[in-house]
Amino acid sequence: MPKKKSTFFNSVRFRIMAIMIVLGIVPSLVIAKAVIHSYEKRAVSLRISNVRNQCDILCNQLVGVGYLENPSSKVIERQLEVLSNVYSGRILVINHSFKIIKDTYGLDEGKTVIAADVIRCLQGEVTSDYNKKNKYIELTVPIKDPEQQEQQGVMLISISTGEIASSVELLERNGMFFWAIIAVAVVLISYMASRVLVKPFNKITKAIEEITDGYQKEDILVEDYTETELITDAFNKMLNRMKILDESRQEFVSNVSHELKTPMTSMKVLADSLVGQQGVPEELYQEFLQDITMEIDRENKIITDLLSLVKLDKKASDLRVEHLHIDDLLELILKRLRPIADKRNIDLILDCFRPVEADVDEVKFTLAISNLVENGIKYNVDDGWVRVSLDADHKYFYVMVADSGMGIPEESLERIFERFYRVDKSHSREIGGTGLGLSIARSSVLMHHGTLNVSSKEEEGTTFTVRIPLSYIP
Ligand SMILES: Nc1ncnc2c1ncn2[C@@H]1O[C@H](COP(=O)(O)OP(=O)(O)O)[C@@H](O)[C@H]1O
Ligand SMILES: [Mg+2]
Repeated sequence: MPKKKSTFFNSVRFRIMAIMIVLGIVPSLVIAKAVIHSYEKRAVSLRISNVRNQCDILCNQLVGVGYLENPSSKVIERQLEVLSNVYSGRILVINHSFKIIKDTYGLDEGKTVIAADVIRCLQGEVTSDYNKKNKYIELTVPIKDPEQQEQQGVMLISISTGEIASSVELLERNGMFFWAIIAVAVVLISYMASRVLVKPFNKITKAIEEITDGYQKEDILVEDYTETELITDAFNKMLNRMKILDESRQEFVSNVSHELKTPMTSMKVLADSLVGQQGVPEELYQEFLQDITMEIDRENKIITDLLSLVKLDKKASDLRVEHLHIDDLLELILKRLRPIADKRNIDLILDCFRPVEADVDEVKFTLAISNLVENGIKYNVDDGWVRVSLDADHKYFYVMVADSGMGIPEESLERIFERFYRVDKSHSREIGGTGLGLSIARSSVLMHHGTLNVSSKEEEGTTFTVRIPLSYIP
């Protein structure tokens, strides 16, 4: 399986860190910007209202001394100078015919201005304009007689906002500094937090590795999170299954060794007793050698059965499915087994309710049915019967193998499909079998995606039912 490269960037830790950093750093930056902006706005509007107040007072004095008609008052002039110095700005006094009467810079006196703000102010509007880029505020203040309420002129003031700009700059610099500290803190905290949050998952990995190194340890338990509990639960289930598989494999190996050893031991005893005696009569030789031959046959049968079982344990893809006439196949199987049945005068009957064609692997299907029929003959009474019947519906075909034999005790019914299991070891041994036949039959049926069921009554007989789908779907 191609292994996905695990880098820090696709780890949960990285994601936790990224989220915390974004959530911690971005909002603090936005807030800092907003605070500085509102400070700037407030400073500018404060400055404007201050200047406007002072100018209002001055304008009243202008009107009082009739400065617009006769700009000769030294006092007024002095005040204009002071005001423009205080705010480091320029003040223009303009009469209602747009003529500049006074310019504190002394540059444009006598000239005419036709600026939009001035016109709007003469119409009674007050205007102010903050030019951030060139760092100045321009505002207009109407000059009018407080009693007659008549517009006599305009005072146009432009003042520098250089110091507001420099305090904003200072604020920005300080802000950036604090922001940098916050950013570093957030990165450090998120690094540590991600470590702590991910720790339970590392615990799981460690526990699994420990178990992989050796099997001894019991279940793993990491209850820190719901998720880790789910993972460990699932893992423990898998582990238990593996333990069961391992146990059954070990049991199988020990069973196999035992079963293979038994005939060997018998042969050894038989042979030893012949070797140990002198002048053994010929008949005894004959008898012992016959016994030895029987044991060899038995050993052979066990090995053959084991080989079939091992073959059936392979993948389902090893099935060589063909479309076959099942009735013909059953007939063939019964024909092969008839000689054994005849020995004990057991009737072998085939009942086909309809011709059936289905997809089966001939060898494996034959193995399954042969084993069932063989059992029916073996565990039968003399002069009994074994009835094999075939039926089908639109989806499955059914093979029933019924016999008139000794039956199987209820408590054994569940176990007869286990490998090497035999109901009654002593009489089964006398009948001769390996205990593998039904395992072979069941494995073969399962490979065809079918089922194998049994029902039995002691002293009356047993019926095995095989159900296999008509068409094989891999
Ligand atoms: N038709 C049957 N009637 C009675 N007992 C049966 C029948 N088929 C199987 N058994 C019991 O189930 C056991 C397991 O069968 P099987 O796996 O075929 O092994 P064996 O090699 O002993 O035949 C048999 O030993 C026998 O005790
Ligand atoms: Mg058998």
